[in-house]
Amino acid sequence: MERTLILIKPDGVKRSLTGEILRRIEAKGYTFVAIELREASRETLAAHYAEHEGKPFYEPLMEFMSSGPVLAAVAEGQRVIEGFRSLAGTTEPTLAAPGTIRGDLGRDWGAKVMQNLVHGSDSPESAEREIGIWFPAL
Ligand code: RTP
Ligand code: MG
Repeated sequence: MERTLILIKPDGVKRSLTGEILRRIEAKGYTFVAIELREASRETLAAHYAEHEGKPFYEPLMEFMSSGPVLAAVAEGQRVIEGFRSLAGTTEPTLAAPGTIRGDLGRDWGAKVMQNLVHGSDSPESAEREIGIWFPAL
């Protein structure tokens, strides 16, 4: 069965949207294997965002992801990787389609980096790598 790593970013936790976001994932029919609220360490975030190191938004992104607790989860189901990316909507929340998590709940707040509520693994390889970073015991 396919698994994906989902993060509810600090903006989602601060805005008390964790219940609403988890509800949408369950309503779609996926099940949770693990859920944990935690403060991500710099090491965890550096491993998670290694592909973005050196990009202009890297430091603002690291700062944003360290600005408060993150809800990390592993969800399971047939094609959950693409299914969750579809539920989440496109990266830029102002333009994400209504009906998606980012489209319904997110927007531009004038922050240094895009605050778009959620992260979801983008391929089976990313999912395996990211689950290993956040939930090494799984
Ligand atoms: P994610 O990895 O968080 O699921 O989002 P994504 O695939 O849609 O976006 P990605 O390209 O992987 O970028 C990771 C996160 O970095 C922030 N970002 N800001 N130009 C910018 O200001 C910019 N580009 C990316 C966003 O928070 C994005 O989700
Ligand atoms: Mg990504």
